Amino acid sequence: MAALVIWALALGAGARAASASAQARRTWLESCASCHGSDGTGQTSKGRALYVANMATAAWQQGISDLGIKEAIQNGVKRTKTVPAPPATLHGAKITASAQAATELQVKQQMDAYRDKLQPEEIDGLLQYIRQFAP
Ligand code: HEC
Repeated sequence: MAALVIWALALGAGARAASASAQARRTWLESCASCHGSDGTGQTSKGRALYVANMATAAWQQGISDLGIKEAIQNGVKRTKTVPAPPATLHGAKITASAQAATELQVKQQMDAYRDKLQPEEIDGLLQYIRQFAP
């Protein structure tokens, strides 16, 4: 009898965890995937334009704490990233001397704050969801 009760409790907890991650998946696809990609790689047109990082790499996963992830979701992101100038800038018909000389671009990276749009449990769920992109 006792074993049965424990089994039932374990089953309940498992089902709750599964529905929390299904919810996180829905939120990710609705609110985040347009920039970060459904798989976290950032390979969408918006993601590429914003030079969004690839979350599905060990380097990215190790480079950010759980708190850092939660703070980014709560407060949004606003920063400038220096990136190598893409080869496309060399293919224009007229290339100015300064454009030719430019080897770097300053990209404005911006993400909305989700503090008022998501419940704390939803942000926790997204943290777990982002962590499972780890290779
Ligand atoms: C409009 C595009 C856009 C959307 C939508 C978006 N983000 Fe972002 N996000 C960015 C940009 C740009 C950055 C900064 C570049 C980077 O670190 O990839 C970023 C960075 C992050 C980071 C890393 C922060 C850091 O300090 O490095 C996390 C975590 C994150 N986003 C989570 C989310 C989650 C969760 C959602 C959905 C609730 C979301 N993003 C929706 C554009 C977006």
